[in-house]
Amino acid sequence: AVTPLADRFGRVARDLRVSLTDRCNLRCTYCMPEEGLAWLPRQQQLTDDEVIRLIRVAVERLGIRQVRFTGGEPLLRRGLVGIVQAAAALEPRPTLMLTTNGIGLERLAVPLRDAGLDRVNVSLDTLDPARFRELTRRDRLPDVLRGLSAAAAAGLTPVKVNTVLMRGINDDEAPALLRFALDHGYQLRFIEQMPLDAQHQWNRHEMVTAEEILASLQPYALQPDSVSRGTAPAETWLVPGHLDAAGEPARVGVIGSVTRPFCGDCDRTRLTADGQVRDCLFATDESDLRKLVRDGASDADLAEAWRVAMSGKRAGHGIDDPSFLQPARPMSAIGG
Ligand code: GTP
Ligand code: 5AD
Ligand code: SF4
Repeated sequence: AVTPLADRFGRVARDLRVSLTDRCNLRCTYCMPEEGLAWLPRQQQLTDDEVIRLIRVAVERLGIRQVRFTGGEPLLRRGLVGIVQAAAALEPRPTLMLTTNGIGLERLAVPLRDAGLDRVNVSLDTLDPARFRELTRRDRLPDVLRGLSAAAAAGLTPVKVNTVLMRGINDDEAPALLRFALDHGYQLRFIEQMPLDAQHQWNRHEMVTAEEILASLQPYALQPDSVSRGTAPAETWLVPGHLDAAGEPARVGVIGSVTRPFCGDCDRTRLTADGQVRDCLFATDESDLRKLVRDGASDADLAEAWRVAMSGKRAGHGIDDPSFLQPARPMSAIGG
């Protein structure tokens, strides 16, 4: 029997975001320091079987319908294809998605599709190789571009591209990135930077806002979208005169987490690579399912613990509250 993950504000979680590793092969300056972070010790990370079990409990007992794999960089997880395959065999079959930096996707797009992955979102903040090297501290723009092409060719569509604009760094690139996405049939989304960086250097005034992003896209004469966004973080606009890869009107999105929060419609629950449930990206508490799993809990026990974990979800992230505190874990260890 399914008892959904409801909170006290009546929101129901149908979307599970699973972080498969806290490691990454890039070092984006807005995410982590050059030297990396203190990675999770292996024994603290859920095994493939443990991840699969928790996804199964979420699907079979908690009514989760979509599973998104994140990281860190999820393509670094050795068992990824097997995890996707096991998730695709669940009933009812969840929609399976992946958010990646694209490195390694060239090789993995077809195996992932064959395992049952439905679509991918790829992070890309600049099209300029030198700027990419500065921003990510790695010279790997060509790998990302090849990964994107491979994803589209494998039918992991619609392929979405996620871009974080930073003032004075890449905020002049919005039109060029949109042109690139339109040319290739990818759906571009600009993301407002959130206070989730490991270095705690986020600054509201340096953040490029949704309003500024839209202003810089004025040459495209964007039109309001007729399709409702539902629970999605992205607000979308139509790009007149352009079609996407499926022949639909092309769209561009803005994820205005800070200035246009969407917490009221949130349908997300999160599982970290070390088996902690988070009811929100900005949650300050976590619930330890790994311990329950390793202590021999039943599926029913796990489902109940997950429900309890979600019941305390706050109304919103509270970034604007004077008492706001950035969560102890950075984005790379939570899963975006
Ligand atoms: P689709 O629209 O279904 O493709 O996915 P998505 O946009 O939810 O997923 P993706 O992993 O591509 O996330 C894009 C951005 O949205 C990332 O910066 C995420 O951190 C952010 N995001 C996703 N879920 C939430 C959320 O619940 N709250 C906030 N504030 N940001 C979120
Ligand atoms: N704020 C907003 N987005 C972020 N991302 C990483 N860190 C942050 C942050 N602090 C982006 C990545 C990727 C997506 C999953 O989240 O660039 O595109
Ligand atoms: Fe949901 Fe928290 Fe994101 Fe708001 S900040 S949309 S509540 S996960």
